[in-house]
Amino acid sequence: MDETRARITRDGIRIYDEAGFAGMRAAGQVAAEILDQVAPLVRLGTPTAEIDDFIREEIIRRGVVSATIGYKGYKHASCISVNHVVCHGIPGPKVLADGDILNIDVTVIVDGWFGDTSRMYVAGQLARKAERLIEVTHEALMRGIAAVRPGATFGDIGHAIQSYVEANRMSVVRDFCGHGLGRVFHAPPNVLHYGRPGSGPALEEGMFFTIEPMVNLGRPETKILADDWTAVTRDKSLSAQYEHSIGVTATGCEIFTASPAGKFFRTWE
Ligand code: MF3
Ligand code: CO
Ligand code: CO
Repeated sequence: MDETRARITRDGIRIYDEAGFAGMRAAGQVAAEILDQVAPLVRLGTPTAEIDDFIREEIIRRGVVSATIGYKGYKHASCISVNHVVCHGIPGPKVLADGDILNIDVTVIVDGWFGDTSRMYVAGQLARKAERLIEVTHEALMRGIAAVRPGATFGDIGHAIQSYVEANRMSVVRDFCGHGLGRVFHAPPNVLHYGRPGSGPALEEGMFFTIEPMVNLGRPETKILADDWTAVTRDKSLSAQYEHSIGVTATGCEIFTASPAGKFFRTWE
């Protein structure tokens, strides 16, 4: 593939062409289909490692590649972040309990293209305040996506997310952000989920990146546990996250990781 004519903006952001859109569409759809498939596995008493086993086997069965196994020493095909875990939760023997809310994040590589997406799931009975957190987080992502069009800025995306979350008396995590991606997992720019309108680089057709806001019921601060991966809220409040991989089009954006089953938001219904 000829990359010699690929354009990189002054902010180091790669501009992709139609072949890039096709590659990202294929990768995003595989990641989204796998997240559709895991929904029935999320039940009381299931160890999160069992969900990860399914995801790893499904990736193998489809003949694609996990982007997370071997990434900076990470050993799993997904991150599973339960309750006050903000992100990068490690799948393990702990079983899901009644009322647990969890984010499952999968990144696959299909023909060299990266599809990165995550959604919220629920085990057992969903408490009202947890449901509100999940609703606000999903709506925050969709408002961020709605701000995407050529000429808007990354600050516009962050502002759309932050203003909505804070109007609902919740907080946006500052310690993690979205990222450019394409034929690499993490590339410029950092996509902040907070910001001022008009700040940051301007969006251009052909930019590919994730938007993946993490929202807390309490304070925004996080800390990393001794395993060097698991990020939790410092105040132990509940946290939620949704993530899409998108590409900027002439008029708005294409969501590469839309759910084929139409089950992106309320996965538990
Ligand atoms: N998928 C995560 C993201 O949204 C990154 C996970 S890296 C891992 O960027 F190593 F923790 F899996
Ligand atoms: Co991501
Ligand atoms: Co992800």
